[in-house]
Amino acid sequence: MAKEGAQRAEETEQMIQKEGGKEAGEGSAAGSLRAADTKEMRAVVLSAFGGLNKLRVSKKAMPEPQDGELKIRVKACGLNFIDLMVRQGNIDNPPKTPLIPGFECSGIVEAVGDSVKGFEIGDRIMAFVNYSAWAEVVCTPVEFVYKIPDDMSFSEAAAFPMNFVTAYMMLFEVANLREGMSVLVHSAGGGVGQAVAQLCSTVPNVTVFGTASSFKHEAIKDSVTHLFDRNVDYVQEVKRISADGVDIVLDCLCGENTGKGLSLLKPLGTYILYGSSNMVTGETKSFFSFAKSWWQVEKVNPIKLYEENKVIAGFSLLNLLFKQNRSGLIKGVMDKLLDLYNRKKIKPVVDSLWALEEVKEAMQRIHDRGNIGKLILDVEKAPTPLTHAYTFTDDVGKNSKEDNENLTSDQC
Ligand SMILES: NC(=O)c1ccc[n+]([C@@H]2O[C@H](COP(=O)([O-])OP(=O)(O)OC[C@H]3O[C@@H](n4cnc5c(N)ncnc54)[C@H](OP(=O)(O)O)[C@@H]3O)[C@@H](O)[C@H]2O)c1
Repeated sequence: MAKEGAQRAEETEQMIQKEGGKEAGEGSAAGSLRAADTKEMRAVVLSAFGGLNKLRVSKKAMPEPQDGELKIRVKACGLNFIDLMVRQGNIDNPPKTPLIPGFECSGIVEAVGDSVKGFEIGDRIMAFVNYSAWAEVVCTPVEFVYKIPDDMSFSEAAAFPMNFVTAYMMLFEVANLREGMSVLVHSAGGGVGQAVAQLCSTVPNVTVFGTASSFKHEAIKDSVTHLFDRNVDYVQEVKRISADGVDIVLDCLCGENTGKGLSLLKPLGTYILYGSSNMVTGETKSFFSFAKSWWQVEKVNPIKLYEENKVIAGFSLLNLLFKQNRSGLIKGVMDKLLDLYNRKKIKPVVDSLWALEEVKEAMQRIHDRGNIGKLILDVEKAPTPLTHAYTFTDDVGKNSKEDNENLTSDQC
């Protein structure tokens, strides 16, 4: 695997040299490509489902806005855990490859399709995109686009929609979080985890229990009331502190944790399943972990829920947006979130910035559990060849805190 890592770094360097050749005198790879041919753009392309080697930066035809769409000059894109699962083909009804991945971005409105109201060329925006966000230019329906505050950077804006809308809807729309309640969240140092922690702090006297890799604890200790290492028996740890459990369990792990999460609920408590990170056990899809996760979930017994006064729920933001047409509901949530941002109650945590050409290294950082907050693909960032500090490894969680700190500061 370390050899694969070296190969990957070499591929990145080759990509940089290739782009660098076009770049001479232009200042950035993005600028040179635009100057060379305005009908083409750089985009990350997934050629087939599988490992990191299925990702490449290629030239693609630039999209033009259809009726009701905005054309966006992209500045930054969010990299989410779901993007790893898409790359592996580890999702329900995967689309056909080749495809441009990515579900969210920030940037500037470059053109406005027919019948679009409320936006003008030059507006600073963030947007959800049903694939294809990881490109220099994106077109998306206007109902998935939101103006951003003047003091919100493009990196922050790309880190905002997926994490904060998911966290807000689970806490306030599904679980009805109120004063004095308690919440358990896994991957508390990740993008959604940190959004959950910040939103919980907007309600008085909420106790947050979180699990995360130990090296993250120092960095996130102020946002979470009780932190446990991801490998400990968290059921026992939570019960040691709160004998009757918690009001809300947010489970993005799936697998064997469904039963554990339910066992932790107080009467009238809500368990929300919203992810299946446990299905990702390596660089490519594992059929064994896929089968194990779903077999465990199907063992939930509704009669026991009734007897024990427990609520079980599921949440999928992408389905709500792109399959169930709830963009109006999400616009209302976004308005509330932007109000919280403007009142300085919440702020996206950005882990690190990466060039499009560094997408493999960025994804590897998530596989290695190295991120604290969100990874951003910065479209205008020049790639930095990886020559030190970071070695690729199959052993998740084994890179040291120093390695991660080096990587973050080197890459930012
Ligand atoms: N349903 C929805 O609408 C929705 C929307 C957004 C996200 N999600 C889900 O929410 C979860 C968090 O998403 P995110 O984008 O914010 O990612 P994230 O939490 O930043 O993901 C990375 C972190 O997840 C933890 N992790 C758990 N299992 C892992 C594994 N098998 N491989 C690598 N890391 C693993 C690691 O933290 P530790 O080592 O510290 O645990 C890692 O640093 C994901 O399951 C995602 O699919 C769901």
